[in-house]
Amino acid sequence: MEAPDWKNLPFGYMKTDYNVRCHYRNGKWGELEISSSEYIDIHIAATGLHYGQEAFEGLKAYMGKDGRVRLFRWEENAKRLILSAGGIIMAPFPYELFREALYKVVELNRRFVPPYGSGASLYIRPLLYGSGAEVGVKPASEYTFLVFVTPVGPYFKGGVKPVDMLICRDIDRAAPKGTGIYKVGGNYAASMRAIIAARDGGYANTIFLDAREKKYIDECGPANFFGIRDNTYVTPKSESILNSITNMSLLDIAASLGMKTERRQVPVEELGMFEEAGACGTAAVISPIRKIVDPENNIIYEYCRDGQPGPLTMKLYNKLTALQCGDEEDTFGWVSIL
Ligand code: PLP
Ligand code: COI
Repeated sequence: MEAPDWKNLPFGYMKTDYNVRCHYRNGKWGELEISSSEYIDIHIAATGLHYGQEAFEGLKAYMGKDGRVRLFRWEENAKRLILSAGGIIMAPFPYELFREALYKVVELNRRFVPPYGSGASLYIRPLLYGSGAEVGVKPASEYTFLVFVTPVGPYFKGGVKPVDMLICRDIDRAAPKGTGIYKVGGNYAASMRAIIAARDGGYANTIFLDAREKKYIDECGPANFFGIRDNTYVTPKSESILNSITNMSLLDIAASLGMKTERRQVPVEELGMFEEAGACGTAAVISPIRKIVDPENNIIYEYCRDGQPGPLTMKLYNKLTALQCGDEEDTFGWVSIL
């Protein structure tokens, strides 16, 4: 393999050596299987294809200065995949098997873990879908789990370079009592029109508001939102957003750095009170927000006026990334070393 240009990797797909698969048939999960094919053979009537019986996860492996590979809070991804499976009536993928599959797929593709200090990491994508055939709308009786990896750079171009966001009022990503808290493909399909409209307008992504009243911030495309004011880290509480593991971690990190934290409804007008704002997630890491445009109300909320990320955003970013690659001692117990 010619060495990839680690420092300039996009957030995209690159073929790696192996993926790991597992099948649920006759009421039980089988053995993990290793495959070098990038393709799956799928029944033409699989529920995953027709009725969106599909959920996924996203986490990363990081190379440390010591040459050891680290996973960040994989346990939370295992639990969230079980939650998502329950949300759309799929057979849950067992926690212990999830761990085994992750360790195996990373070990087998070790040469694709980007070097320490490159700013890139190995993205791990577990997927669970209904593979059994049904024509009526009902859960399948067979499921497939698979996990592949691919080296990636930052999701938002430029890494910690501040980005612009567009508030979206005419498209909802998820309904209040819908599937927004699950990491299911349907939510992403529902978000695409809004995301593409934002990108076409020159924005990094869209900010979704609560679907019921359009009064409160929900989330930022494929990432949670946070704002910082008066040394307080504020992030939305909503029944239709994904419970981000990065955001959960930032709440704890902020507290450990002496900041106050609040997880509550965030009214749109409060955007004018924040000194700093950002999007956070596995793919996004922390993406500082330069400005948020509210086209219906003709308002532009601006942060980082000098073009630089705010000081507290950078403090959070530095602490999070230092923990993930092992530069700082893991006092939270979040890191597993392979
Ligand atoms: N919100 C959405 C809709 C996402 O797709 C993601 C990505 O997983 C996040 C938030 C961030 O979650 P996490 O930090 O667990 O990756
Ligand atoms: C992640 O952050 O892992 C995600 O899943 C975002 C992805 C949809 C691009």
